[in-house]
Amino acid sequence: VDLRPYNSFGLPAKARRLVRIRSEADLRWVVNHPDWGRASKFILGGGSNLVLTRDLQPLVLKVEVPGRRLLDAGDDWIVEAGAGERWHDLVMWSLEQGVGGLENLALIPGTVGAAPVQNIGAYGVELKDRFECLDTLDLMSGRLVSLDKAACHFGYRDSVFKQHLAGRSVILRVRFRCPKRWVPELGYLDLQRAQEAAGIAQPTPAQVADWVMAIRRAKLPDPAVIGNAGSFFKNPIVTAEACRAVIAREPHIVHYPLDDGRCKLAAGWLIDACGWKGKSVGGAGVYEKQALVLVNRGEARGGEVLTLAQAIQASVFARFGVQLEPEPVVV
Ligand code: EPU
Repeated sequence: VDLRPYNSFGLPAKARRLVRIRSEADLRWVVNHPDWGRASKFILGGGSNLVLTRDLQPLVLKVEVPGRRLLDAGDDWIVEAGAGERWHDLVMWSLEQGVGGLENLALIPGTVGAAPVQNIGAYGVELKDRFECLDTLDLMSGRLVSLDKAACHFGYRDSVFKQHLAGRSVILRVRFRCPKRWVPELGYLDLQRAQEAAGIAQPTPAQVADWVMAIRRAKLPDPAVIGNAGSFFKNPIVTAEACRAVIAREPHIVHYPLDDGRCKLAAGWLIDACGWKGKSVGGAGVYEKQALVLVNRGEARGGEVLTLAQAIQASVFARFGVQLEPEPVVV
């Protein structure tokens, strides 16, 4: 199976076998299958956070579980969706139902089932801030379990599904809790600017979604047009001492203090400062409008993306002493 249509970077790779999972029953059929039950498996959602550098030997499970539901939970709405729904479609659908809460996460590529894996986040909101629970089938035990927020161990672009449940647990359905008394989250500087420009003191959730979409469209490449996997590196978190030292040397460095004294550095700024914007290795390039995003300029191969990424890491480390860590899953 050609995986090019199944990864937003558009990188060439093949899978030996791909099975579409539209329900728990489909998944149980695979788990109980005499050959495939024991085979190692690769779980694929929208493929928008994936860098393929080689063919996939494991059995690929393409999660396509459909469905959307709204449940009334007193003071809150519960928004429930199948893992195969497109994330952005769920955000738009919830807004159409009159439910606010997910609007800051509009236009993030990928599926609902992949969203908890890396705890997607943007413009001051992370998935974990709206998360209620999810249903997942454990491929080892064959048991369907419901995991709450604590069980998912959400961190910055991280969860239990990237750690010890990686490859062994398939998310089938996810639920979000959105308070009926909606409060906009407008702390992010770009959103404050959009609000000032619009001159709207009390926006609706749909207006906030419009601002978020406009900001994203201005900065981030649409994967349908230019292949990419969003931010290629995490924003590095450094100790308070390391942060003071780097600010002393680089007074303009973009950084965000954290509650525990450490600080988060803007990886895009670090990469930009090293002069990488617009540079390329073969078909792989650094996006002109956001240095944190690597793009496929045409016929990029996964190896070229990795070569470019390593060169960026080396130059950022040489200049700032900071090690950048890739954000997408690299195969
Ligand atoms: N910057 C530069 N040059 C660049 C890029 C950025 O100087 O080439 C500076 C910007 O001016 C800004 C700062 O770096 O002061 C941060 O940039 P931006 O606001 O674009 O956000 P980011 O930190 O680069 C993160 C997330 C994005 C998310 C945005 C908005 C990570 C790894 N990335 O990017 O998430 O959309 O904030 O909340 O945390 C993703 O994870 O794939 C992703 C796109």
